[in-house]
Amino acid sequence: MKAGGDEIKGLILAGGSGTRLRPITGTGPKQLIPIANRPVIRYCIQDISNCGISEIGIILGNNYPHKIIDLLGDGRELGVNFTYIRQGQPLGIAHAIGSARDFLGNERFVVYLGDNLLKSGISNIAEEFTQNKLESMILLSRVREPSRFGVAVMDDDGNVVDLVEKPDKPPSPFALVGVYFLTDKIFPIIDSLRPSGRGELEITDALRILMKSGHGVEARTVSGWWKDTGRVEDILEANRLILEDLYEKKSDPLDHIGKSTHIDGNATIIPPVIIGEGCTILSGAMIGPYVAVGDNCRIQGAGIHDSVIDKNVQIDCSRVIERSLIGKGVRITVSGSGNRDVGGMGDLTLVLGENSHAEF
Ligand code: G1P
Repeated sequence: MKAGGDEIKGLILAGGSGTRLRPITGTGPKQLIPIANRPVIRYCIQDISNCGISEIGIILGNNYPHKIIDLLGDGRELGVNFTYIRQGQPLGIAHAIGSARDFLGNERFVVYLGDNLLKSGISNIAEEFTQNKLESMILLSRVREPSRFGVAVMDDDGNVVDLVEKPDKPPSPFALVGVYFLTDKIFPIIDSLRPSGRGELEITDALRILMKSGHGVEARTVSGWWKDTGRVEDILEANRLILEDLYEKKSDPLDHIGKSTHIDGNATIIPPVIIGEGCTILSGAMIGPYVAVGDNCRIQGAGIHDSVIDKNVQIDCSRVIERSLIGKGVRITVSGSGNRDVGGMGDLTLVLGENSHAEF
């Protein structure tokens, strides 16, 4: 972002083992899980590049990092420049930021956790950070379960006076969103951190030290929804939210069906739904609401609701599949006789890793 002659850099954290999303993350990083047919990390990149930031560092972890490089390349196609940085050991967010020190130098920067999604992006906040030369900014969002996140402690006037990571008794309903605007003042603080109870160098601890040492940490509450996509239910909710946004912009389902996709006259599509390219949706299938189907899928007979289906999936059975996360190349079929009509046996909720085969 150019303002006052200086440009801020972007840093996306794309490490982590994604334990809560296994088996999906058994074959790839969680940042590549598709939400409304786009890998989560693409939304962060979009938000950062919408701020006019072109230099973006991507921190890679140990869980199939090359799949991120294969997808994103050098960034030229998107008009940005990616620098890939290996974190080495997965020692927390603050550690990851510390490992990007050479890339960041003494420039001002924004850190974006690669599994976070924000309805309204970050460009207004980036502009405020840059224009006013603020020392650091954090974003807050009111949530139902603050104890799952970093949480802000507020005084009676609503000023943030402290931050705590995953408190048992949350002091407020305001969670720390995984987007942090920082300067090089954070590096010596990161150096002084000790690992937390979960063995990580916590960004929340670093920010607290920054705040307590008299440096300005400005907090802003985000407008619109925020989602950390760490669990299957979060992925499904994010998928619903993005699909709603897509249909707010374009309400005709045909705008959300990929080219060379064939939908049989006896199949039913209940929006909001997105279907990729080269799919075949055959008779009896009922897709939606809130379903994303990736490229080259073939679906016959099934009713699918509130689910994320990755690429190259084949489903051939007359069951209702709902609240499910289906990895690439999965096959769901009926056993033996070839009689697809095994309905009435209850609805299915499935989380199936890449190339699994489930037979009912
Ligand atoms: C991390 C931060 C937490 C923040 C959250 C946002 O949690 O430690 O403060 O609220 O990201 O996504 P983690 O995902 O490592 O549990």
